[in-house]
Amino acid sequence: MPPAVVTNTDLCSRLDTTQEWIESRTGIRERRTVSNGVATVDLAVEAGVRALKSAGMFAVDAVVLATTSPDRTCPAGAPEVASRLGLGNVAAFDLTSACSGFVYGLATCAGLIATGVAESVLFIGAEAFSTFVNPADRTTAPIFGDGAGAVVLRRGDGDEPGAIGPFDLGSDGRHADLLAVFGGGSRQRAANGLGHADVPAEDWYLSMSGRAVYQHAVARMTASARTVLDRAGWSATDVDRFAGHQANLRIITSVAQQLCIPHDRVLANIDRTGNALAASIPILLAETAASGELSAGQRVLVTAFGAGLSWGSTVLEWPDITADSLI
Ligand code: UT7
Repeated sequence: MPPAVVTNTDLCSRLDTTQEWIESRTGIRERRTVSNGVATVDLAVEAGVRALKSAGMFAVDAVVLATTSPDRTCPAGAPEVASRLGLGNVAAFDLTSACSGFVYGLATCAGLIATGVAESVLFIGAEAFSTFVNPADRTTAPIFGDGAGAVVLRRGDGDEPGAIGPFDLGSDGRHADLLAVFGGGSRQRAANGLGHADVPAEDWYLSMSGRAVYQHAVARMTASARTVLDRAGWSATDVDRFAGHQANLRIITSVAQQLCIPHDRVLANIDRTGNALAASIPILLAETAASGELSAGQRVLVTAFGAGLSWGSTVLEWPDITADSLI
């Protein structure tokens, strides 16, 4: 995660809000944001270096970057990540699925391996999403933070620890406008060479209908988790650790309660990260694996939800691996 910490106190000095409101409604105390000149690919490279080192790997067959805050609309950032990591001319592409990006990406990487396209994949979730958040908007500025997390996936046996799956993935595009950056894409393009007069200033930033998103998040994460547990043949009592997307502590707690997963099995670091979109879950896994809160042999349920709307879940038994975390 980038070093610059933005505390709730910092936000209170420039927004019409209170520390009590932010912490009680979201569980967030502080978040990290990139400094000027630092972008998503920079965070992705740092996470990639650490993941490769932890895995003891110097080469992979593909690099996949899940991000919704790309350095540029074109090209994808993954080829630059691969080059800067010295990985050569490997397959490299970005995947955009907002806060579900890590689960969608795991499924995509598993597919690359299953189809024989790759024997190993470096998969990174990285976001400098604070650059898409209006610093003057009290409904979004407290929520989002920047960071990156990465994993190295390799071909293995389906019954060995670390094998990922089954999956449940879903979407509901009828609610695309609930969480969106409306300007800058092909629908509301910045005028060619004529400035940005046709895009209202607020449309360059994220717009979020927080209450509606919250309700969808709880319902979809709970249903998706139930589906994947069913597919895996697990019951809720089989779940040793619940790694839910860190969007709001109340969402995570509510989903865990509905699934009957005890509080002490729920992983959370949102108090220090905020919502880091596709980077949220890998940062959580890395931090808790490094601290020992997540350990080899534990059965992990991973569930995410975000803009799109989109959601996804998977399960795995945590393998005996080294994790490196820098929060
Ligand atoms: O991964 C997906 C990405 N996003 C999410 O998952 C976000 C999901 N949504 C949420 O986490 C919550 O909806 C929020 C934390 C964003 C908001 O919490 P809420 O309990 O749903 O509050 P609300 O939006 O219903 O707003 C309640 C009140 C409103 O005032 P009125 O209309 O009741 O007078 C807001 O204007 O709180 C007000 N408010 C604030 N007050 C102080 C909204 N933001 C703030 C603020 N400080 N920062």
